[in-house]
Amino acid sequence: MSTYTEDSRKVTTHRLIEMKKRGEKISMLTAYDYSMASIIDQAGMDIILVGDSASNVMVGNVTTLPMTLSQMIYHGKSVMNAVKRSLVVVDMPFGTVSGNPLQSLEAAIRVMKETGADALKIEGGEEIVADIKKIIDAGIPVMGHLGLMPQSINKYGTYNVRAKDEAEAEKLISDAKLLEETGCFGIVLEKIPASLAGKVASELQIPIIGIGAGGQVDGQVLVMHDMLGINKNFSPKFLRRYADLHSVITEAVQGYIKDVKTQDFPNENESY
Ligand code: KIV
Repeated sequence: MSTYTEDSRKVTTHRLIEMKKRGEKISMLTAYDYSMASIIDQAGMDIILVGDSASNVMVGNVTTLPMTLSQMIYHGKSVMNAVKRSLVVVDMPFGTVSGNPLQSLEAAIRVMKETGADALKIEGGEEIVADIKKIIDAGIPVMGHLGLMPQSINKYGTYNVRAKDEAEAEKLISDAKLLEETGCFGIVLEKIPASLAGKVASELQIPIIGIGAGGQVDGQVLVMHDMLGINKNFSPKFLRRYADLHSVITEAVQGYIKDVKTQDFPNENESY
C-alpha cells in the first residue's frame, strides 16, 4: 500500500516548504513523552509538537500559563529520545519570549541545547518580532503562532474564535507577513475563520498549519489527547476524534482490577 509515511527521510523545515509547493498537506500532532512520541513518529507524522498544552493534558492546569521552561525541556527531551523521522518543534512557554530579545535568545538556546529539538514555536506577532529575529539570527528555526493564542487567555477572556472582525483580521494578516519576512519557517493559525486562514495560506510562501482554521491551509495540527479521545470533556467543533481511548483504557483498567480482586491474576503461567 502506498502512503506518505513510506518516505523515511528526516523531515526538515526545507522539506515542509517543498511539500507546500507541491500541494502535499502537512500532518502535525502533539506529544509529550517517549512512548507516545515513538508511536507517532513511526506512524509517519511530519511534525511532532511538544506543545505547552502539556500544561492542560499532562499536568491538569486550566491554562497553559504555569508551564515553565524546565518543564518544556523535560517533555522536549523525552520526545527527542524517541523520534527518528518527524520534525520536532518545542513550544516556548508563557513569559519566556516577551520583548527582551537577549533574554528570549538565552531561553531559546537552553531549550535547543537541552532537548536537541529541531525548532521552536512562539506565540505572537509584531510585539515580539525583535525577539523572534534574534532567535532566528542565532540559527534556531522558529514557527509562529497567531489567531487564538492560549498564552494570552487573560487578555482575551475567552477561547472563542479570533479575528472575526476586520481590524483583528487585518492585524493577523500583517503579523503573518511580518513573521514570514523575519524568517519563520511556518505558522500555526488557531481558531480563526476558514476563509481568513485560506487567504493567509495563499499569500504566504511558508506552510500555514491550522487548528480550528478550516481546510484551505497547508496542514493540520491537533492535540494528541483530544484526537485519541482520552479527553472526554473537550469537544470543540473543530475536533475530530479518531479513537475512544478513554473507554478502551477504562475497560482495560477495570478488567485488571476485577482480575486482581478475584485472584484470576496472576495465574500459574504468569508466576515464576
Ligand atoms: O500547545 C499546543 O498544543 C499548541 C497547539 C494547540 C497548536 O500550541
